[in-house]
Amino acid sequence: MRLTIFGSGYVGLVQGACMAEMGNHVVCYDIDADKIDRLNRGEIPIYEPGLEAYVERNVEAGRLEFTTDVKKAVDHGLFQFIAVGTPPDEDGSADLKHVVAVAHAIAENMEEYRIVVDKSTVPVGTADKVKAEIEKVLDQRGKKVEFDVVSNPEFLKEGAAISDFMKPDRIIIGTDNPRTTELLRSLYEPFNRNHDRLISMDIRSAELTKYAANAMLATKISFMNELANLAERFGADIEAVRLGIGSDPRIGYHFIYPGAGYGGSCFPKDVQALARSADASGYDAELLNAVEAVNLRQKRRLFEKLSDHYGGDLKGKTIAVWGLSFKPNTDDMRAAPSRVLMEALWEAGATVKAYDPEATEETARIYPDKDGLTLCEEAYGAVEGADALVIVTEWQEFRSPDFQVLKDKLADALIVDGRNLYEPETVEALGLKYYAIGRGRT
Ligand SMILES: NC(=O)c1ccc[n+]([C@@H]2O[C@H](COP(=O)([O-])OP(=O)(O)OC[C@H]3O[C@@H](n4cnc5c(N)ncnc54)[C@H](O)[C@@H]3O)[C@@H](O)[C@H]2O)c1
Repeated sequence: MRLTIFGSGYVGLVQGACMAEMGNHVVCYDIDADKIDRLNRGEIPIYEPGLEAYVERNVEAGRLEFTTDVKKAVDHGLFQFIAVGTPPDEDGSADLKHVVAVAHAIAENMEEYRIVVDKSTVPVGTADKVKAEIEKVLDQRGKKVEFDVVSNPEFLKEGAAISDFMKPDRIIIGTDNPRTTELLRSLYEPFNRNHDRLISMDIRSAELTKYAANAMLATKISFMNELANLAERFGADIEAVRLGIGSDPRIGYHFIYPGAGYGGSCFPKDVQALARSADASGYDAELLNAVEAVNLRQKRRLFEKLSDHYGGDLKGKTIAVWGLSFKPNTDDMRAAPSRVLMEALWEAGATVKAYDPEATEETARIYPDKDGLTLCEEAYGAVEGADALVIVTEWQEFRSPDFQVLKDKLADALIVDGRNLYEPETVEALGLKYYAIGRGRT
């Protein structure tokens, strides 16, 4: 089948590569000419395990193309996927300007039947806006061209995006036209061979399903972070509590890790956007607002732990930071807890020596020539000359460090662990001071 994808970011690029891998002919369009140039030179602008090989193979096979030629893009695919960003507007609601711009571009160039499929995460009612924009432009052109608008939200996880896309838990299709559902069913057939994962529903429910999933996951995280803060006050160990509650199948072990707060391009903005949609409908979404407030507070916990240890005076301290991306296996720094920590440290007069296996380039882009920031090429380089170490992202290489080396290198022999990677007794027995999240009175 022939499909076009608007937006070649984390979602569009992964979808393009995976759809091409299944034998489809995919054209990826982006307004960022530099990104398209890089892709055409064989460079992958993001770090996502396995993506490079998929892109390379399918470009070589002639099934995957990158372009800034909008006419070519619209002419190419029966399916026109929208996978552009929906960043937060000033008030936290989803900014739909990129989505509407794509609808506009499709309508300006459309000559025959097209299925416009929204993969971006968008508030309920967006499909109606996309439809209205296309109708308006077609009217202006004096053209009558048939089209359908479909909601097909994406659930991939950065860091495991290829396998999530190739073996999805579910494929949500929101349509108001059974014929379109069947066309999308055939497009997704190769991803459905093991068992039918396609769930079809009305458009508004599909749009809401994406927010519901992210809001539920964010709620689990904020719940555990709240409990971790209580565990610290009560002298209990949240890791024991986690195992104790996870064993209940109604709760389960997934997604109940306490930590440094959720970040990334999705949870923070989607929880906020859903809460703002609720406001706009006249409903005060108290739970969603609390999930967000707990998360904002949690993102400051690592700084608070350091600051408490040093009696509120971090001036002149050098803090090593391990892990900058918002989670392992990505270079995505959007809303990453490391940013809150580093900015608080700079504000307090401390300097940062940071290491991340993949995100240093992105960090340098966000904080160009930043005084007080040294980006290191290896983990032990970051602790060299530092007073304390903070672990923000749980990359695997941090799981079993040489504690003796850390003790020797860290002037204050102090570790603040935002991911509960180690056993407090083990670390403390080696003569290091260790603070974790929700583990007794640490
Ligand atoms: N990143 C994730 O893990 C993830 C998962 C599921 C859903 N989503 C949702 O998918 C959408 C895209 O997210 P992303 O992380 O891929 O974003 P991204 O910022 O990585 O990529 C968006 C791309 O769209 C391009 N773009 C902007 N305006 C355009 C236009 N008018 N025409 C063509 N291209 C345009 C940008 O240049 C950019 O390359 C968002 O709504 C997001 O919430 C993201």
